[in-house]
Amino acid sequence: MLTPTILAIETSCDETAAAIVRGGKEILSNQVASQIAIHEQFGGVVPEVASRHHVENMTTVIKHALAEANLTYDDIDAVAVTEGPGLVGALLVGVNTAKAVAYAHNLPLLPVNHIAGHIHATNLVDTIEYPAMALVVSGGHTSLVYMETEGSYEVIGETRDDAVGEAYDKVARTIGLPYPGGPHIDRLAREVEPTIDFPRSWLEEDTYDFSFSGLKSSVLNYVHNQKQRGEDIHAEDIAASFQASIVEVLVERASRAALSYDTKQLIVTGGVAANQAIRSAMKDKMERIGVQLIIPPLSLCTDNAAMIGAAAFVEWKKKNVADLKLNGVPNLPLTTHVR
Ligand code: KG4
Ligand code: ZN
Repeated sequence: MLTPTILAIETSCDETAAAIVRGGKEILSNQVASQIAIHEQFGGVVPEVASRHHVENMTTVIKHALAEANLTYDDIDAVAVTEGPGLVGALLVGVNTAKAVAYAHNLPLLPVNHIAGHIHATNLVDTIEYPAMALVVSGGHTSLVYMETEGSYEVIGETRDDAVGEAYDKVARTIGLPYPGGPHIDRLAREVEPTIDFPRSWLEEDTYDFSFSGLKSSVLNYVHNQKQRGEDIHAEDIAASFQASIVEVLVERASRAALSYDTKQLIVTGGVAANQAIRSAMKDKMERIGVQLIIPPLSLCTDNAAMIGAAAFVEWKKKNVADLKLNGVPNLPLTTHVR
């Protein structure tokens, strides 16, 4: 079958999501039950709480996805699920649900890497042309991934410490902003020009790796020193200056990678790709150096199951079907492995 209708499930972090995607491109439904309001009270994701809410919401979210698409299980050709990376207890809820659905309805079970999901969100609005380079920036990941052909992944750079979204969330917390901090910093940073000279961690000249813990510590030290001197904290100055450092490093790495490798497109995706400053700086730079840039719309950049359905189509074509021993793998590497 050329255009399978895939039910996709995503529970790797704090969104319980189910979607139905046809042929890796067409979204028939896309349901996301966000737990942000719950984790906001704790200033971050509490893994046990996340798992419990996934259990409570999972079946309803799937029911809503089928209803929104006006389909029944008889219309579904395969069930896909995020195998990892993510929080183990959270992943297990999705994986066990997908296994139950696959078993009960005699459907193939397609395991999907969450990062591949973020990348393939692109196909829901555009078409990935290979070879392609992808910058995946989220709460858990900062990776540059080179894809020579569909379904092949070479991670050429990644963070050596904090993920970029993690740095956003920690800095936001330090300056008194709610969780998740990324969108709040994004908004505040628009109010002023950056004035504080926070470091850019360039690492070695030829690396595509990232490091954000030095920047994060520098912001924490700055806030601490201001408080000790009894001076006011201007959250918008800190937000704008912190973000300027992030944007400069991400744009440099992504553009150098896109120019050094034989690549037709640069894809920027993941929760942090919802950031307005990153989106516009990437656009300016890629226009200047003549690289085609694709950034999925905001709702497909943050965690959702439609992106898992899009990536699952690649597994479908590879016939990468899992058996009922499938497990959630918290540190699942992004490889081209086929079972
Ligand atoms: O991809 P995602 O929804 O979940 C993970 O797989 O981690 O990414 C969540 C991350 C959080 O750290 C959040 O603060 C960040 O994406 N984020 C943003 C923005 N919107 C979400 N960071 C910067 N600017 C934004 N507008
Ligand atoms: Zn994600």
